[in-house]
Amino acid sequence: MTEHIKIESKDNILSLTLARPDKKNALTNVMYGALADALLAAETDPAARVIVIRGEGDMFTAGNDVGEFAAIATGAFKGERHVARFIQAIARATRPLVAAVQGRAVGIGTTMLLHCDFVVLAEDAQLSTPFVNLALVPEAASTLLMPLRIGYARAYEMFAFGETVDASTALRLGIANRVVPLERLHAEAATIAQRLAKLPAGSLAATKRLMRNPEVLTAQIAAESECFAERLTTAEAREAFTAFAERRPPDFAKLAR
Ligand code: COA
Repeated sequence: MTEHIKIESKDNILSLTLARPDKKNALTNVMYGALADALLAAETDPAARVIVIRGEGDMFTAGNDVGEFAAIATGAFKGERHVARFIQAIARATRPLVAAVQGRAVGIGTTMLLHCDFVVLAEDAQLSTPFVNLALVPEAASTLLMPLRIGYARAYEMFAFGETVDASTALRLGIANRVVPLERLHAEAATIAQRLAKLPAGSLAATKRLMRNPEVLTAQIAAESECFAERLTTAEAREAFTAFAERRPPDFAKLAR
């Protein structure tokens, strides 16, 4: 358990709130663990008919904690890693998942949206997947789901350049369902969740299973994880993490391939 994930259950809706606003809700191993546990517990909780994922503060999440990436890369990080459990849990979730996103959603903050069934964005939302900027590769089956969702050309641009996609573009591309003013974000997500909670849960789960094949997603996740682990220990990744810590742009051109 961690104070950085708030879990609330009310009126058949389970809310999972990323609550580390001083670090822009950057996700730590402990936070992934809490999210994975909550998603798994929801599968057998009759009171969790719908799950809402949201973030405190001015940003949904700045993505994986870069300090932890660096610790993994140097071998300083010890213990069980929970990110894979979280990705598996969100990819296999049978409950309807609603996301409410304000400000930035970086890295896994964006790729997790591809596993959500209904995405509500505030007008200030900015989605980005700067894995290549960190000399890594995209994860959470996004190398499959993003091209499927928005087409190869646009997905490649998002992945290669890591540029942000604003809310109206995300809506047009089909990454999101709704864009609302920031002050209406949580009310809109709650309204959608309440509508979904009244629908026949078995039928919704079966529809979702027919629309998303968890076995295909799991195979892609495994391939990505292997590549991601290799990339983490490269000189390119070391340069990226050091540059982040030193608050300077990375210089990849000095590194041979
Ligand atoms: N991991 C760890 N700490 C992070 C973080 C991350 N992913 N993102 C932000 N933080 C921390 C900052 O280090 C800073 O900590 P400090 O106050 O102790 O110095 C604090 O959160 C506030 O971040 P700051 O960079 O000052 O906010 P900003 O509004 O100027 O910029 C971002 C926000 C998201 C653009 C910027 O923080 C950023 O680029 N973060 C890294 C995103 C990233 O690459 N994630 C991994 C994707 S795979």
